[in-house]
Amino acid sequence: MENKHIPVLLNEVIEGLNIKDNGIYLDLTLGRAGHSSEILKRLSTNGLLIGVDQDKDAIKESQERLEKIAPNFKIIKSNFVNVDQVLDELGINKVDGVLMDLGVSSPQFDESDRGFSYRYNAPLDMRMDQEQKLTAKEVVNTYSEAELRSIFYEYGEDKYSASIARNIVKYRQNKEIETTFELVDIIKRSKPTKELKKVGHPAKQIFQALRIEVNNELNVLKDALSKVVKYLNSNGRLAVITFHSLEDKIVKKYFKDLAVVEGNRDNFPIKVEEKDYILITRKGIRPSQEELERNPRSASATLRIIEKK
Ligand SMILES: C[S@@+](CC[C@H](N)C(=O)[O-])C[C@H]1O[C@@H](n2cnc3c(N)ncnc32)[C@H](O)[C@@H]1O
Repeated sequence: MENKHIPVLLNEVIEGLNIKDNGIYLDLTLGRAGHSSEILKRLSTNGLLIGVDQDKDAIKESQERLEKIAPNFKIIKSNFVNVDQVLDELGINKVDGVLMDLGVSSPQFDESDRGFSYRYNAPLDMRMDQEQKLTAKEVVNTYSEAELRSIFYEYGEDKYSASIARNIVKYRQNKEIETTFELVDIIKRSKPTKELKKVGHPAKQIFQALRIEVNNELNVLKDALSKVVKYLNSNGRLAVITFHSLEDKIVKKYFKDLAVVEGNRDNFPIKVEEKDYILITRKGIRPSQEELERNPRSASATLRIIEKK
């Protein structure tokens, strides 16, 4: 099984972080250290790379991979929402660059037993952190019909959310929903035939919604963004890659609020306050045609970068 992770927008991230060889860089979504390897290669012995991930498999593989490059790195297993705690424990109060490459990695998606994919039959799990309690199985079997409907609408934007939630509740009256394929069947039965013929898997949006709920993805993203920008050194940059519009909206708005001065400078006598951050990417950066051909999974990626003045 293809189990590698191809780093997305790699050149754009490395260029965008503007790496100083003696700087401190924080990769909050280490994954298989695809981006981190390239960051570490660019650091001198005075530089430091800190990698964070909540997935124990990602930690183990990245440790082995980075050790082959240089010793000046530290790996911490944590949710990135605890970034302040992680840095405090390391005694670090400023960093020169931060990367967040959101979502799941290809190995997480492709390892059938993690339950992230509608393509493999597996227990309904979807936890990025294998020690976490809440699983997708618990969500589909214990949440009320109204809660499920609202998660599917809000996080999956699926227009058949109501009938899918209704059919889940009906199904579980007889039997717990245990596997990804049981859920896929319920989703398919909740959609009209013409919907099933459309391009894209009929369970894609509902699986996305469940994953967001299980891992509390949007809330931890908001909290982590507001924590991490405070640690940027002058000229330090934060680069974030998102993979769907809900994440991208959060990042775009947060960056705009931090960096963009509203109002008209020429409109004297209104005094316009200067902001502490500069928007490096006015528009999100998207993968090139060449990258899309090489790595179709990059298709939904958008990179946004901000700099501390
Ligand atoms: C898209 S992958 C990153 C891939 C990596 N840039 C590479 O090139 O190998 C996202 C990684 O971030 C981790 N992750 C996602 N959300 C997280 C969070 N809130 N806290 C810690 N790690 C998280 C996932 O476990 C996954 O390994």
